[in-house]
Amino acid sequence: MQPMETEDMQDLRKLFRIICSIALGATVFVASAETSTLQAAYKEFFPIGAAIATEKNGFDSLTRYPPELLAEFSSLVAENCMKPGEIEPAEGKFAWTNPDRIVAYAKEHGMLMRGHTLVWHNQSAQWMFSATGSADEKRAKTRDRLKTYIGAVVGRYRNDVYCWDVVNEAVKDDWDAGKWPSIYRENSPWFAAYGNASYIQDAFDFAREASPDAKLFYNDYGLCGASKRARTIEMIKTLKLKDHGLTGVGIQGHWNLSWPPVSEIQVTIDAFAALGLEVQITELDIDCYGNTPSEKGIPYAQVEDALAKRYAEIFACFRKNSGKITGVTFWGVADDHTWLDHFWLGVWHEGRTRKNWPLLFAEDGSKKKAYRAVVDFKENR
Ligand code: G3I
Repeated sequence: MQPMETEDMQDLRKLFRIICSIALGATVFVASAETSTLQAAYKEFFPIGAAIATEKNGFDSLTRYPPELLAEFSSLVAENCMKPGEIEPAEGKFAWTNPDRIVAYAKEHGMLMRGHTLVWHNQSAQWMFSATGSADEKRAKTRDRLKTYIGAVVGRYRNDVYCWDVVNEAVKDDWDAGKWPSIYRENSPWFAAYGNASYIQDAFDFAREASPDAKLFYNDYGLCGASKRARTIEMIKTLKLKDHGLTGVGIQGHWNLSWPPVSEIQVTIDAFAALGLEVQITELDIDCYGNTPSEKGIPYAQVEDALAKRYAEIFACFRKNSGKITGVTFWGVADDHTWLDHFWLGVWHEGRTRKNWPLLFAEDGSKKKAYRAVVDFKENR
């Protein structure tokens, strides 16, 4: 008969069993858990985010998408409800409900929260620019309102939002090059109310004051175009924005199947990193039509392979630059809700749809070929 094992021997055997099972179990569990989501596949590189819609009597991402789909992401941003005119539609009257919902969801699920956006020429409320009097009086009043508004919004989410798009799209586009003498979008109501671009410096100062540790970004589109990139770098240098708290640049990433070439994405990342700034991709989606003038929809099957190939090359570039890139956010979760269904050839078509397929998840939430192309990368084996 086997001698009764001493207690120590029994403990040793139990310990040995636990170590074995952990070693065995952990590998399997971790392995499958590790690579089973987008964010897990990119944990070593950068957070992966998604824009969340909370439309009034419209689309609501937090109720539409199952938790396991939202769990593919490690960061959230509001598609619309944290914009100036949405969050403070009237002076002193704040619409906190939906911003609070997204912030609470992120917190509850251990996700990061980006803030989009404090100062923009679009979706801002008229009361912010309604000051009258001399140019100096108008600027002073607008400045006071900007300070109070940013103090209230950034202050409220000081412990929740780790990164703000402080100013969005303040540099003029190539097609406006001859329209205004300066490098700025001079038809911005902020530029008009101030009479110059110093509102940009104020916005960063006020945001830094309200949230001393937050990352503060300038966010824009078309930055992979040489001249817009040059104007943006000139703005950062001329306004000495780093002295006002600027820590990074958001490359929106509203791209298509061929533009911009990966080489231009690399040049753009390097250009801003060379200024000692972080770079984030803040609104990524791939327009499957590009500049096709046709109003007629194209079937997804026609672009499935091209989209997967495009996302594969883009994310290979992002992984290569993971030291410079500190976050990649998709401008939506799945193809059932994307602004690109209503926006084509530079025009917003209210109430009309031309179905687009810009994201990694299909309309039913299933993983597209593009999803596999992004997560099944060699370094991940
Ligand atoms: O909420 C109202 C709804 O009550 C009304 O019934 C409906 C019809 O008029 O309009 C709804 O507002 C729409 C809002 O999205 C919410 O869906 C606005 O018309 C529409 O213009 C607005 O579009 C947003 C657009 O910014 C505004 O410029 C898009 O959803 C949003 O994806 C888009 O996001 C911008 C980024 O903030 C900055 N970079 C470019 C990006 C794409 O344009």
